[in-house]
Amino acid sequence: VAPLKVGIAGLGTVGAEVVRLIESQARALAGRSGRGIRVVAVTARSKAKKRGVDLRDVEWAKDPMALATHPEIDCFVELMGGAGDPAMSAVEAALTAGKSVVTANKALLAKHGIKLAKAAEKHGGALNFEAAVGAAIPVIKTLREGLAGTGINRVYGILNGTCNYILTRMEQEGLSFAECLKDAQRLGYAEANPSFDVDGHDTAQKLAILASLAFGTKVAQSAVYVEGISSIAPEDLRAAADLGYRVKLLGVAVRTAKGIEQRVHPTMVPKSSSIAQVMGVTNAVTIDGEGIPPITLVGPGAGGAATASAVVADIADVARGIRANPFGRPIAQLRDTKKAPMERH
Ligand code: NDP
Ligand code: HSE
Repeated sequence: VAPLKVGIAGLGTVGAEVVRLIESQARALAGRSGRGIRVVAVTARSKAKKRGVDLRDVEWAKDPMALATHPEIDCFVELMGGAGDPAMSAVEAALTAGKSVVTANKALLAKHGIKLAKAAEKHGGALNFEAAVGAAIPVIKTLREGLAGTGINRVYGILNGTCNYILTRMEQEGLSFAECLKDAQRLGYAEANPSFDVDGHDTAQKLAILASLAFGTKVAQSAVYVEGISSIAPEDLRAAADLGYRVKLLGVAVRTAKGIEQRVHPTMVPKSSSIAQVMGVTNAVTIDGEGIPPITLVGPGAGGAATASAVVADIADVARGIRANPFGRPIAQLRDTKKAPMERH
């Protein structure tokens, strides 16, 4: 069987790690997929930048669009980020050309996910995005496949590694918000524009994706109420601790009588609760399904290796010929998303 030919746009924290993982796991991936996976072309902004991976036998495409429509590639992997161009136009072009797409770009999916899923549906390619929520945690597959037969009442959790890392270090080491954010950026956890993390938008994008999968609604970031952590100081965390609480940035999507409520805000959680034990860059997602006790998935929520793990698994699915409805059902069956009035829980 011919190998799956992959093109990767974006060779930063995640992209370089994906190239490395495909190389180091080549035999295992070929065994599991029934065919090899070969990176044939890549692109990024700078061709000269050292990336710590061997790209000698790999073609350098002149730009993301040229890579997305490259006649040789079967699967376009978008790891540049951003809801606008070049990510949007390149992903759309790849899908329109009938190629499969793998991306970790939650900003793109939260804004244009339905349009892109329609293109995938029409032209037959896969649109896989396991890494977009919870990095290495297989939460997309859990909601889409594992719980396909279960009604979901609520999905909530810690969905941003940068914020949880900052809150953890501020509480444990008394460091300032700015110092902790700087470290999160150095470690490759933060978005290119870190206000997406600390102002809660990254959590909102991820929550919108999870809500779509959980409730069969159209993904829409605009339906999420958002408040971030940038005004929290070490003394706020100390005051919460004195009362027996920890502060966590939570994303919560819940079915109510008035619709699907989606909200992101800092929350005081009792120190004895399991969510309060989730520290550092770790994420945790709890799913309340009908007739079963809650399921909680916990794992590394950001970073090159954790994210690449999910990206490569998505590429392996393409190699195996697995093609799921991106948001769990045909687009025509997804309901419109309205901003539900906030209720107290
Ligand atoms: P980086 O900023 O580290 O890397 C971005 C890459 O995209 C760089 O190689 C950059 O090129 C390239 N790039 C940016 N703009 C362009 C452009 N206009 N044309 C061509 N190439 C471009 O980002 P990350 O690797 O951290 O993130 C990539 C994606 O993965 C984002 O969507 C992010 O939200 C998502 N993600 C990231 C996680 C993480 O922990 N870092 C976790 C989960 C998802 P150059 O290197 O030359 O500047
Ligand atoms: N900036 C994101 C975070 C990356 O810190 O969670 C993972 O999506």
